Amino acid sequence: MKFEKVGILGTGQMGAGICQVAAAAGCQVYMADLNLDIASKAKEGIGKRLAKAVSKGKMEQAAADQTMANLHPVENVAEFRDVDIAIEAATENIELKLKLFKSLDEACPKEAILATNTSSISITLLAAATSRPEKVVGMHFMNPVPVMKLVEMIKGLQTEDAVFDAVTALAQEWGKTTTVSNDYPGFMVNRLLIPFLNEACYALMEGVGTVEDIDKSIKLGLNHPMGPFQLADLIGLDTVLAIARVLHEGLGDSKYRPSPLLVKYVEAGWLGRKTGRGFYSY
Ligand code: CAA
Repeated sequence: MKFEKVGILGTGQMGAGICQVAAAAGCQVYMADLNLDIASKAKEGIGKRLAKAVSKGKMEQAAADQTMANLHPVENVAEFRDVDIAIEAATENIELKLKLFKSLDEACPKEAILATNTSSISITLLAAATSRPEKVVGMHFMNPVPVMKLVEMIKGLQTEDAVFDAVTALAQEWGKTTTVSNDYPGFMVNRLLIPFLNEACYALMEGVGTVEDIDKSIKLGLNHPMGPFQLADLIGLDTVLAIARVLHEGLGDSKYRPSPLLVKYVEAGWLGRKTGRGFYSY
């Protein structure tokens, strides 16, 4: 299978990161979001990051120029009409993703593979919304995508082995290391990460320690690059809560219940770095 043309639906922090990685690897990348303006702004953001890498001497100007030339913001998914693979990277919301998978199924060539960057939602469920469940696969990148080495690969119940192997090889060609997860809520990374972040919220709510001291304890005590609140702010508290709910509902165990404090922050619109306020102010 060849993957020269890649459509990416959703150009937020994860989608834009995937666009950058795919374009840097030489793919022609079609970037779609709610409209052309959003996709174009995402391309500008990538341009700024590449310019920074060039100024730090971490990237050649020619490589940055080529990456930018490989990025094509488009009006909508109708322009995915000749892609080899489409990767959905929208908000972590089941209804939205089901809708987007139906639209990708209509827009993309019938032999194209449809991948999702979902961090927790059933691949099997999304696949069933399409006419090609055997060509649907989970491709879970980590944030920030250009920096983090891992892509968790998830096989739905109906995913064909050849499709799974080809997309795994693609992630590796893009410079990532892959792991294989079965299709259960949260897969591997978020099955472990989200209860940890959620527990940090309970610890804060119960007054065990301050935001700063809990973060400092984890950074210095466990050698993590970020404390749980810094990481939750990076991921986005709405995303953390959405995944916590998928774990709670999908596994049916009260140990996964989302912390009321996390729920409150999301209700307040304190979603982390992207809104300028989460557990910290930015
Ligand atoms: N996009 C692209 N590049 C970025 C970036 C971003 N948003 N943020 C940082 N970087 C780059 C910087 O440009 C820098 O690159 P160079 O070394 O080439 O100059 C490099 O990352 C290091 O950045 P900084 O020096 O500014 O900061 P740092 O050393 O503190 O590292 C970090 C920042 C890489 C984010 C590090 O703190 C880290 O690894 N944190 C943990 C991140 C993590 O756990 N991610 C997984 C989240 S879970 C997930 O994604 C799954 C899910 O579904 C929720």
